Amino acid sequence: QSFFKPIHGASPPPPTNRNTKISVIGVGNVGMAIAQTILTQDLADEIALVDVNADKLRGEMLDLQHAAAFLPRTTISASVDPTITFGSDLVIVTAGARQLPGESRLNLLQRNVGLFSKIIPPLAAGSPEAVMLVVSNPVDVLTYVAWKLSGFPANRVIGSGTNLDSSRFRFLIADHLDVNAHDVQAYIMGEHGDSSVALWSSISVGGVPILSFLDRQEIAYEKQTLEKIHKEVVQGAYEVIGLKGYTSWAIGYSVANLARSILRDQRKVHLVSVLAKGLYGIDEGEVFLSLPAQLGRSGVLGVTSLHLSEEESQQLQKSAKTILEVQSQLGI
Ligand code: NAI
Ligand code: LAC
Repeated sequence: QSFFKPIHGASPPPPTNRNTKISVIGVGNVGMAIAQTILTQDLADEIALVDVNADKLRGEMLDLQHAAAFLPRTTISASVDPTITFGSDLVIVTAGARQLPGESRLNLLQRNVGLFSKIIPPLAAGSPEAVMLVVSNPVDVLTYVAWKLSGFPANRVIGSGTNLDSSRFRFLIADHLDVNAHDVQAYIMGEHGDSSVALWSSISVGGVPILSFLDRQEIAYEKQTLEKIHKEVVQGAYEVIGLKGYTSWAIGYSVANLARSILRDQRKVHLVSVLAKGLYGIDEGEVFLSLPAQLGRSGVLGVTSLHLSEEESQQLQKSAKTILEVQSQLGI
């Protein structure tokens, strides 16, 4: 019995399009920042939350549900049982240990690989058509692990990668030049972490290549200034973790930005962690790291070929090597 009465002569509703369902695994700082950004940006009809901490999980679900009067209509459910995620279009994995102040991302590896071997297979089996988006750290190696454990094709397993680092980079350049970060095209490639690569040679501001822009504005710049900005990008997360214990808001927006491109088939280019084998001269081993990838409904649609200087290319190879070395300890 419907609450509303049909008007005279109304026909039955046409079959509606299928719901868009996003699952968020892990409702810690990062999972909740992602869930709430997805909700406010109206990206899903259904959000399923999973965590091992039943009380926290129910508390977070209720707290979000209580905002129903202020949000687009979205069904929010939560369970410790991963079957709740079945039939997802997008599965976002944020579960796992996070860094203590001063600790590197790579240090989290053993703990989070153990956890992934438990959680990934049932998630993949229950949503065989989904795109899987990995956020837990170290994100590049864990994206490789998720790819192996899920049995998904490589285009449907993506790491949030340096989409976030590139935003930090754009913010710092914009701040330095007093321009809008949206007008700064700038990329950080490679590992989401200490060996990331800043692509100075391809940065432009409002369509103007940065080096000539700085020249023309007669803004003093030196290699050290540019390197300092990249250092700040790498140190950014350490600084936030040292100050508030974790990072959350920026990664929440970064992942919602990726979710929109994927689920709305935006075909936008993002720096995300993808299987890099055979691209950018990375021929050794199966390594995931961030490259400029076009994202759409089926995940990674392709990777663009940015021109890299010799130095940048070498740094990228070094970054790939760093990740591969860590990966080789896994035995997966
Ligand atoms: P947190 O400690 O606040 O939350 C982790 C959550 O995972 C907890 O609620 C915990 O109960 C849950 N969990 C543990 N085992 C689980 C399991 N088997 N199944 C489901 N849930 C489980 O940590 P936070 O701050 O949310 O960070 C989460 C991860 O995201 C960390 O690995 C962190 O390093 C990473 N991260 C990655 C970023 C990126 O750019 N890729 C940015 C920020 C954080
Ligand atoms: C970040 C996390 C810690 O905010 O990887 O960069």
